This record gives sequence, structure tokens and C-alpha cells, in this order.
Amino acid sequence: MNEQTNGIQTIKNIYNCQARWYDFLVKPVEFFLLHKKRRELFSKISGRVLEVGIGTGANFPYYRSDIVLTGIDASPEMLKIAEHKANKRGLSVDFREMDAENLEFPDGYFDVVVSTLTLCTIPHPVKAAIEMARVCKKGGRVLFLEHGKSDIGWISRWQIRKSDKHFQKHSCRLLSEPLNIIASAGLSVKTSKKFFLGIFQQIEATA
Ligand SMILES: C[S@@+](CC[C@H](N)C(=O)[O-])C[C@H]1O[C@@H](n2cnc3c(N)ncnc32)[C@H](O)[C@@H]1O
Repeated sequence: MNEQTNGIQTIKNIYNCQARWYDFLVKPVEFFLLHKKRRELFSKISGRVLEVGIGTGANFPYYRSDIVLTGIDASPEMLKIAEHKANKRGLSVDFREMDAENLEFPDGYFDVVVSTLTLCTIPHPVKAAIEMARVCKKGGRVLFLEHGKSDIGWISRWQIRKSDKHFQKHSCRLLSEPLNIIASAGLSVKTSKKFFLGIFQQIEATA
């Protein structure tokens, strides 16, 4: 694991600034790579669901309308956009500005916990993953769609070269190791699949 870390206030500032442009910037990646994976992972989940680092609500189109959704994020500006989208879709969401490393929910409260493209940004991702495991009911599903260091040599060398600049701009670790983070948090990994040159990864774990 690498040592790149920012404080929560820096993350807040960065995502507050990027909120207005975020959807536009990620549109190509969403269209070509992620939307199918989001559908695959999230269209069948039910019950009380927590989404950590909900951002602008990229997963809303894939959730069933009968889930009971809580979404937390450090950035109030990202949350504002998510709230606007949820209202437009008629989706009822309990939005909270909260640090993923200190979730203000009781143990075992949620049936399912979701994180997409968030472990790479959270300052201490193992701490956050431990919190995700704690608030999920025993045996409940914890689902991830993340990116990280590729296992393909030339891609990972390119990521190493870009890593510092990318982190300064987006507070996002290109060399993140999602599977290690999740395993270190004591979650039990059921399936994990890498895609797009080994950069992205979908992981299904249980608490
Ligand atoms: C790259 S965006 C991903 C947004 C969304 N999950 C998606 O799939 O598009 C990362 C999000 O994580 C949030 N975040 C980062 N660190 C956080 C923390 N410690 N607590 C809560 N949210 C955090 C950021 O504010 C940002 O909205």
C-alpha cells in the first residue's frame, strides 16, 4: 500500500470544487466501462442500504426503488448534486455529511454496504472498510467497485509515473490496492474480478 494521504478537509475542498464538473469529467469512463458493472452489482440488492462516499449519486439509476437508502459523503457540494438527482428520480435517500472513517450508525444496522470509487480517496481506507464491516449486519453484503494498481507491468509503471500529480489534483490514489484494504479490514471476500487492463475491480465481500 502506498502512503499518499490528505486530511478530510482537503478532500472536502477538492470535491466541493469539482462537484459541478464531476459528472461531465467521468462521463466517458461511465459510458464505456462502469455503467454495466454498476448495473450488475447493484440492480438486485434490497433492504437497508448504506452507500459510502455517494458522490453525485452515480449508482441511483441502478438501485431498485424499494431499497431504503442512506448516502454519506464528506463533501456537501457532491451531496447537493446527489440530492437534486434523487429528487428528480423520486428516490428517497437519507443524505448525511459524514466521515467514512467514523460512521455514525449502530453495529449491524445495514443489510448491504456499497462503495464505488471511494477507497482510493478516503485518507485511511482500512479504517473506513472496518467501519463498513461494523455497520453491516453479520453475513451482510459489502460491495465494491474500485480502481487501483494494475497487475500489468507497463500499465502499473504508467500509473507510478502519474500517481503524484493525480493525487495532488484529485486526492485519489492510482496505486490503491482495494483487495488488500478489504482483506485487512477483516471482510470476507467472496468474488473479485478485475477489468479494463487490471485497473478496475468489482469485489463482493461479506461482513
Ligand atoms: C471519486 S468520488 C466517487 C463518487 C461516487 N461513489 C461514484 O461512484 O461516482 C469519491 C467520493 O468519496 C468522497 N470521500 C472521500 N473521502 C471520504 C471520507 N473520508 N468520508 C466520506 N466521503 C469521502 C468524496 O467526497 C467523493 O464524493
